[in-house]
Amino acid sequence: MRSVIDIMDLSTAEIQDLIVTAEDIIENPDQYAHACERKKLATLFFEPSTRTRMSFEAAMYELGGHVISMSEANSSSAAKGESVADTAKTVSNYVDIIAMRHPKEGAALVASMNASVPVINAGDGGHCHPTQTMADLLTIWREKKQFDHLTIGFCGDLKFGRTVHSLAGAMARYEGTKLVLISPEELRLPDYVKKNILAPAGVPFTETTDLEGSMNDLDILYMTRVQRERFFNEEDYLRLKDRYILTEEKLKSAPERMIVMHPLPRVNEISVAVDEDPRACYFKQVLYGKYMRMALILKLLKEAGRL
Ligand code: NCD
Repeated sequence: MRSVIDIMDLSTAEIQDLIVTAEDIIENPDQYAHACERKKLATLFFEPSTRTRMSFEAAMYELGGHVISMSEANSSSAAKGESVADTAKTVSNYVDIIAMRHPKEGAALVASMNASVPVINAGDGGHCHPTQTMADLLTIWREKKQFDHLTIGFCGDLKFGRTVHSLAGAMARYEGTKLVLISPEELRLPDYVKKNILAPAGVPFTETTDLEGSMNDLDILYMTRVQRERFFNEEDYLRLKDRYILTEEKLKSAPERMIVMHPLPRVNEISVAVDEDPRACYFKQVLYGKYMRMALILKLLKEAGRL
């Protein structure tokens, strides 16, 4: 059973196909309005979410399908001690496809090994978030018309930010990708991402604490929130949370070509005034995420023989 746990589960050719489908949905939404009639998606979210869960739900509704939810972990059997494996086996009896978010790294993989329907990882702890990356990739594609030869600056919490890990992996497969990793010392990109993903692909990267000094080189600035819920103590969070704040003032000297992305939710990392800047793309990411999730649901249901 084909599931998507990591963005690397999809080849670059498959990503390109998903982009073609998503763009076709944008152009011809009516042609997809009944594509998933009588099919059901379960959203199993054991961690807070606004965008991702609603985006999956809106995606399934726009395909003519149905959604059943288990939004509150403490109102479900997980609160009684049920394992992820048992929940996945159980829910497989009710639906055609599952989207799951969980605070533990690897939870979605365990679910996929036990489910009899496709599982989509909607975020597992500080590990991966492939469908956010799909939203990011469609945004980059529509803004830049290319994936090759881009320099991306990731700024903020690169240690716990799962969207960074997934997008860094996805971009590592394109030619000429360069990364600038901007973070406090304590929140640097984990070694496993550098060793397992960047090094084998030969992606050049630099690490710095300086945001303003780095912007000139960038095609994309990807800002992130400091992941409070993954910190061991509040003091460290408070010390680091406002380290990087992107303002209009700082953007003045940034190149025209440099688009600003953020997976959202934003806390303080981007001042609201930046939203008016034509380079700000983070609300486009939200919209594109829905179309890419529609494309992915269609693909996985077809491959599973359920469409
Ligand atoms: C991200 C996540 O959950 O990892 N949000 C999202 O899905 N768009 C980023 C974050 O929570 O900071």
